[in-house]
Amino acid sequence: MIPHVDNDSIVYLNGDYLRLGDAQVSVLDRGFIFGDGIYDVVPAYNGKPFRMDGHLARLERSLASIGIETGMQRQDWETLVQGMLQRSGLGDCMVYIQVTRGVAKRDHAFPEGVKPTVFCMVSPFVRPTQALRQQGLSAVGMEDVRWLRCEIKSISLLGNVLAKQYAVDAGVDDVLQFRDGNLTEGSAANIWVVKDGVLLAPPRNNLILEGIRYGLMEELAQAAGIQFTARPISRQEVENADELMLSSATKELLPITSYDGHPVGSGQPGSVYAALRQGYDDAIEKLLG
Ligand SMILES: Cc1ncc(COP(=O)(O)O)c(C=O)c1O
Repeated sequence: MIPHVDNDSIVYLNGDYLRLGDAQVSVLDRGFIFGDGIYDVVPAYNGKPFRMDGHLARLERSLASIGIETGMQRQDWETLVQGMLQRSGLGDCMVYIQVTRGVAKRDHAFPEGVKPTVFCMVSPFVRPTQALRQQGLSAVGMEDVRWLRCEIKSISLLGNVLAKQYAVDAGVDDVLQFRDGNLTEGSAANIWVVKDGVLLAPPRNNLILEGIRYGLMEELAQAAGIQFTARPISRQEVENADELMLSSATKELLPITSYDGHPVGSGQPGSVYAALRQGYDDAIEKLLG
């Protein structure tokens, strides 16, 4: 029995559909031993996956970047996600997919002839409330001490775990991480900065995980006539920002209204946030038909 989870929910493990409480993986799985694996999280609204293509393309990129071959094609991943959504019977939910290099004698080098472990589960998703959208989040800055391959959606998340705990210990919602004086990202989210009406984000490179909302935000900005620039953003620029916001599958798009104990801009969600948030809601409405 695992406390605090629904042991009766159905999960997928290596071709089988099992009760979560019955699903088991060897202690020699390289995910457990080395954190040698990748994952992705596809959000769904009313049982319909949102931006699934982007998530599955990123899953394939992550797999290719660490040399894991599952033999699964795009269509197989889609079938897995859709099938899991149907089995779960859930409306708003998150489809979690994890692939590790598989089970082998403990040795750092890639083992030969080992089948990857493929796991999938679906969890209910409570959307950010209107109150939270209006109030916004609080954040503090910290040094980014993670590795230099943050573009891979690795299951080795110790740096992100420590970053989130830093926020919890500081009594805030999240952190803004900085490397060499420039903004990277939150503990599990991309960060957006607004100055003089221009939307800014750190460039897509190995220092951040490119969220599926990154491309979406570019589209929403363009549709709303908001200028977007991807470039390095200094600590000082973050401190002097008119608006800050955060995006991820689970947080959607939320304003950060307090940073390092000071209000961001007016301390209220700003007009650029409002325009982009409207676009985000419209995109979900469109999905739902
Ligand atoms: C480190 C990190 N950056 C960014 C994101 C945002 O990605 P997405 O928009 O695909 O959820 C996540 C999401 O989990 C993340 O863990």
